[in-house]
Amino acid sequence: MKAAYIDLFSDDASSVELRDVPVPAPGPGQVRVRMRMAPVNPSDFNYIDGTYERAFARMIWNLGASRPTPGPGQDGFPTPPYALGVEGVGVVEEAGGGFLAKRLVGKRVAVVSGPPHGTWQEQTLIDARRAFPVPRGMSDAEACSFFVNPLTALVLVRHLLEVPRGAVLLQTAAGSALGQMVRNLGRQDGFRVIDVVRSHAGAERLRQGGSEHVIALQDEDLLEAVHRITPSGVDFVLDCVAGKTGSEALRTLTPGGRMVCYGTLSGEPISLPPRDIMMPMTRIEGFYLSAYLNQRSLLQRLGLIRRTAKLIQSGILGTAVEKAYRIEDLHQALEHARRPGRTGKILLDMT
Ligand SMILES: NC(=O)c1ccc[n+]([C@@H]2O[C@H](COP(=O)([O-])OP(=O)(O)OC[C@H]3O[C@@H](n4cnc5c(N)ncnc54)[C@H](OP(=O)(O)O)[C@@H]3O)[C@@H](O)[C@H]2O)c1
Repeated sequence: MKAAYIDLFSDDASSVELRDVPVPAPGPGQVRVRMRMAPVNPSDFNYIDGTYERAFARMIWNLGASRPTPGPGQDGFPTPPYALGVEGVGVVEEAGGGFLAKRLVGKRVAVVSGPPHGTWQEQTLIDARRAFPVPRGMSDAEACSFFVNPLTALVLVRHLLEVPRGAVLLQTAAGSALGQMVRNLGRQDGFRVIDVVRSHAGAERLRQGGSEHVIALQDEDLLEAVHRITPSGVDFVLDCVAGKTGSEALRTLTPGGRMVCYGTLSGEPISLPPRDIMMPMTRIEGFYLSAYLNQRSLLQRLGLIRRTAKLIQSGILGTAVEKAYRIEDLHQALEHARRPGRTGKILLDMT
């Protein structure tokens, strides 16, 4: 079967290799899933270039460790060689044992795992607790993006920040799939959204889609533009760009406001003069879905997944697709996924 592998971390996605590997056999508690579709997300590139591993290696609990772990006392973070792909949808063909795994055989499931058992391969192994049957009416294209963005958007808005009706939230890289979900939640929950994008064309696209406040950094200064919209500043910032954009976004907060860092698309650090958060008593915090879910009970996770499924089906947490590629055309798909100005996700089709 075909599988997308890396042997070593690399900034060059053409180092990802599509290779023929044996069909894996599930162990106890695992299922073997014949994959149907998987998206290419920014997080997949973090597994290719080593961003995640380097981030964990900097943490105190990994000082002097030969292999970084995602948290104190946890198993080591996977290192290449490994199969890529964080999420997707497929059909369970075999169970390795255990009640839950056996019950899933024959079911179409949305899965979230990541390397070493990635979803960019024709068949993958997954812990049965990470495979969720998807409703019949949900297409493969919808179901393959079930977890990473929809869950994050829902958790950020309704659980972490609990954005109240009437609040103002500013988001960077607002043309992303997740940005669209936050806008939809804003309409649903009655908070205002200021969308920040890098290009003029990106801003036009959002305006045509009905965005109320859009700022193109190519055309305007961020602070001046936000000041025109809301002179006292915004209540919340969701930033996934960092660098200059994230540093300036921090200064758009109103006193007592909160900023969540949940991505590093620019690859640059945020500059944080302490007085910029001291004087207005604002807060800056981080969010990583995997760590958030690990801190929740099984019941809480299931509740979140059920709510997510409903919101995907109603379109609020839906994902636009720009193009699906056959897995044989993996390199074209990866190149396309990194192109600026996309209007939707790039998918890998393994049907
Ligand atoms: N922390 C977590 O647990 C978590 C979970 C889910 C997602 N995320 C993060 O959420 C972000 C959005 O993910 P997604 O899947 O929704 O993205 P996506 O749909 O693939 O879209 C990527 C967006 O990022 C913009 N972008 C790329 N590089 C940029 C740069 N250097 N400066 C400014 N904008 C840039 C693109 O803008 P253009 O239109 O201008 O090309 C595009 O709108 C990513 O950073 C991802 O890692 C984090």
